[in-house]
Amino acid sequence: MQVRASPLTMAGVIVAAAALLAATETRSPTPIINTKYGQLRGFYQSVDGYGLRVATYLGVPYATPPVGANRFSPTRTLSQWVGVHEAVTFGPACPQRLPDISNETAALTRMSRGRLRSLQRYLPALKRQSEDCLYLNLYVPDEAKPSAAYPVVVFLHGESYEWGSASLYDGSVLAALGRVIVVTINYRLGILGFFNPNVDPVGRATVANYGLMDQLAALHWVQENIVRFSGDPGHVTVMGHGTGAACLNFLVISPAAAGAGLFKRAILMSGSALSPWAAVQEPVYYAVQAARQLGCSVPENLYRHYETLLHCLRDRTVDQILQVDLETPQFLSSIGPSVDGVTIRPDWKEQLEKMGSEDRTPVDLLMGVTTTDILEVFQRRRDPTRIRS
Ligand SMILES: *[C@@H]1O[C@H](CO)[C@@H](O)[C@H](O)[C@H]1NC(C)=O
Repeated sequence: MQVRASPLTMAGVIVAAAALLAATETRSPTPIINTKYGQLRGFYQSVDGYGLRVATYLGVPYATPPVGANRFSPTRTLSQWVGVHEAVTFGPACPQRLPDISNETAALTRMSRGRLRSLQRYLPALKRQSEDCLYLNLYVPDEAKPSAAYPVVVFLHGESYEWGSASLYDGSVLAALGRVIVVTINYRLGILGFFNPNVDPVGRATVANYGLMDQLAALHWVQENIVRFSGDPGHVTVMGHGTGAACLNFLVISPAAAGAGLFKRAILMSGSALSPWAAVQEPVYYAVQAARQLGCSVPENLYRHYETLLHCLRDRTVDQILQVDLETPQFLSSIGPSVDGVTIRPDWKEQLEKMGSEDRTPVDLLMGVTTTDILEVFQRRRDPTRIRS
């Protein structure tokens, strides 16, 4: 999937961030917060027009950087740092290839003018990228005396399983007016986030949905640390948009999250695990295609030599990996969550059906779509090279 679009979304409460932050006058620092992993300090940000302000903490690390041998490995716990971490700038976006809009005329054959304008606004904020990208941001209401701990809203960004970043969304207005702590998170994307060459996820369950593991790790971080920001770990709502909503739906039924009490409520906006593009149907087919393009020989016996393939991909540069171009059938995904037996069970569809028939979900669930949700896809002129017969 190249570009997922929902021109009008409920995520509108969270607005594109870059301009707003740039406009912030002098930043007064917050007191130092002692997290489980070290000390950090953010800054106060005024919420224009409302006479309110929030304490903002940007670029807070929540996991060990998934680099080197940690590429294609489940998210690892953070080590403690020494000194005060100044949480005043967003962490880099995870490695991603941005939609090509350099030629406006050509771009307009694939998308509406409004969509092009929003992409033009987004892309500069996505240019700073690094594989060391597992950071989150917090927006905390600033009241002299909160009457109780604040509920927490964690936002999983959408756009695509291949691009997007927490830094595109400013949680300050929602935090100040809703009197909730808003947390936005980065998670691994593309091949680095979802490479799954496992031919037998039933016989050998192995994590492949690294992006989902990152989301779970961030939710663990919230459980461990949100009290120090006056948040209530017992009142966490996760909100996902588009591909982020699909991820969240998978987390709701994931055995990797079961019983951990990471969140109490889920809000799915413009996406779910049952969206046709939500899960990759034949992950091995695409994994083999990617491996070939990267010059990694695909072992005859992929079941036995699974690790050999991962080793080869760990040797490639991020740029090489981003160059991989997979043939993606229209309306479907070639990269994204797929059955790995650990985060997504082979019988996940039955799980969902059962949930529906029993009229009972493990968490409170709110979902919604807009009337123009996939308008963008239909506006796009068909490109025969991207359709597999
Ligand atoms: C931009 O795209 C249009 C339409 O595809 C094409 O005719 C034109 O030559 C392109 N311009 C440049 C500068 O590449």
